[in-house]
Amino acid sequence: MQQRLKEILERALKEIRECREVAQLEKSRVKYLGKKGELTVFLRGMGDLSPEERPAMGRLVNEAKEEVETLLAAQRERVLQLEKERRLKEEEVDITVPGKRFTRGKRHPLTKTLDEIKNIFMGLGFTVVEGPEVEYAYYNFTALNIPENHPARDVQDTFYINEDILLRTHTSPNQVRVMEKTKPPIRIIVPGRVYRADDVDATHSPVFHQIEGLVVDEGITLGDLKGTFDLFVKKLYGEHMETKFRPSHFPFTEPSAEIDATCFVCSGAGCRVCKDTGWIELSGAGMVHPEVLERCGIDTTKYSGFAFGMGLDRLTMLKYGIDDLRLLFENDIRFLKQF
Ligand code: PHE
Repeated sequence: MQQRLKEILERALKEIRECREVAQLEKSRVKYLGKKGELTVFLRGMGDLSPEERPAMGRLVNEAKEEVETLLAAQRERVLQLEKERRLKEEEVDITVPGKRFTRGKRHPLTKTLDEIKNIFMGLGFTVVEGPEVEYAYYNFTALNIPENHPARDVQDTFYINEDILLRTHTSPNQVRVMEKTKPPIRIIVPGRVYRADDVDATHSPVFHQIEGLVVDEGITLGDLKGTFDLFVKKLYGEHMETKFRPSHFPFTEPSAEIDATCFVCSGAGCRVCKDTGWIELSGAGMVHPEVLERCGIDTTKYSGFAFGMGLDRLTMLKYGIDDLRLLFENDIRFLKQF
């Protein structure tokens, strides 16, 4: 029996010494000391011994178990140390490996142009406000004198959420929103996304950007509109720029105009971009219609106002010589990096 015990003990010690992982150690522990472990079973088997032999043998088995336990604990320390060393080695940082270069983002040309425009108007005492992109048909059309049967209301042009709610087709609803809440004097610009059911091409997109302008005060005239816009265009594009009004029609302004500016490509000589006219169209504008003012509770015997709505995408394309609107929406880093 003693011989067998010696054999088990030696095998156990050897096995444990060879363990290189904590999991292996645990296996060995179960194999020898667990409920059905070899040493446990051995101890139980001592019932077959004579009462005289039992105490001496019992002591030997217990000593063997202790020896195994001690070695298990010591080997555990060793294995943990080894694992730590292995990990440290693996995780070593090689400071000679070249780093990865991150491509840095740039401000989008639309954002850059808008920031410039905001600065110009803030310098003139305007405040920048924003309004909802999901809008009531009331603000988008009705309050702006756009009648029920106007083609702009057609589903061909407008994205409807339901009969009364739609994606705004212009930033003009914010004229009404602001005038309903604010007493004159009012001087605001409203930049934002607008939506129209257009197919995508080089000059059209179902999503684009407008900047609305609105001034309401005592004695505001078309001359103020002209002066303001002229100054704005000179600041944005340069002192050589000129503006002119072309008669136009909008239901919510009277009189209405399209504002043209000197063609930035040919400086007025005539070219492909301006279709040989020397001028390019920048903005719709006009004097706020008295009915619109009245609807917002503004006294038209005292106050008048002008409004304009210009396309930010177009202003940006002109500023940077971009010839395809789609480039502004694709977020191609190779394109954006150039600005
Ligand atoms: N909202 C008009 C458009 O989208 C532009 C405009 C704004 C015209 C303000 C007059 C006054 O075409």
